[in-house]
Amino acid sequence: MANEMQNWYEAAKKRSSIRIFSGKVPKDDFFELKDFADGLRNDKARIEFRAKNDVLSGFSIFGGVDGTNCFAAVIVRDKCRYMGGYIGEAFLLECISRGYGTCWLGTGFKRSALMKYIDLDADEKVVAVIAVGKPDDIHAAVGKKSIDRLTGLERQDYLALPRWQQDAANTARLAPSARNRQPWELDIQNSKIRIISNATNFGFGDVDLGIAMLHIELGAAKHGVYGDWEFENGNGEATFIPFSSARVLNDKESGAE
Ligand SMILES: Cc1cc2nc3c(=O)[nH]c(=O)nc-3n(C[C@H](O)[C@H](O)[C@H](O)COP(=O)(O)O)c2cc1C
Repeated sequence: MANEMQNWYEAAKKRSSIRIFSGKVPKDDFFELKDFADGLRNDKARIEFRAKNDVLSGFSIFGGVDGTNCFAAVIVRDKCRYMGGYIGEAFLLECISRGYGTCWLGTGFKRSALMKYIDLDADEKVVAVIAVGKPDDIHAAVGKKSIDRLTGLERQDYLALPRWQQDAANTARLAPSARNRQPWELDIQNSKIRIISNATNFGFGDVDLGIAMLHIELGAAKHGVYGDWEFENGNGEATFIPFSSARVLNDKESGAE
């Protein structure tokens, strides 16, 4: 497993949203993270990492954060929200692996202030921001839906799956989502995992989907399984298909890490 993915996998396992920060990202790390954010840009989404005092401040009672002025604006093109979730979560997990606290914010920021600092093309939209800063304290993890609720599988059927599929499902289970709704289901098929968005979740359902897609890839990669995504019915449904079926079938026997 590549170092970066290993770090993100570990970050995904220990992460929880932080809303009270004890300080902003120091200058050197800030510019490194800014470069990192620039490197995630693709034709569907990009991230602008900024430090501005009026975007997050004073918004904590509206579901915002306190104690940092650093944020990543997650921008999508052509309403391709899942890609905003996917690269936004990569950025968030990189921040966690460098020791920072984070929180996705769909509403808890001042959009009018943000728009002073971000230039958007006509087909672009800011779908969320991610607050980043020094964590004030360790926050307890919030409850998540059970594996059987997310997959429809009985415990013994889940335990009979290849380890990469078990870990992919469980890493997805831990993904952040707006209001912790986890608005998707996992259909675990022979050598594949299909994820289906099952609610618009106040307009964040596709962002949540992209976040969970990255978590699925990280859980699979932990066991040496890499693959790509196929979209069947528009953006709301995607199937992770491993590149090498031989590796996938062997994983169960070898218990590879
Ligand atoms: C797209 C998205 C939007 C979110 N918007 C907000 C928000 O506006 N305010 C907030 O406090 N938390 C927000 N969150 C954080 C969720 O509440 C949090 O991820 C969820 O409760 C699960 O908790 P966890 O991240 O600690 O696992 C958002 C999360 C996502 C993925």
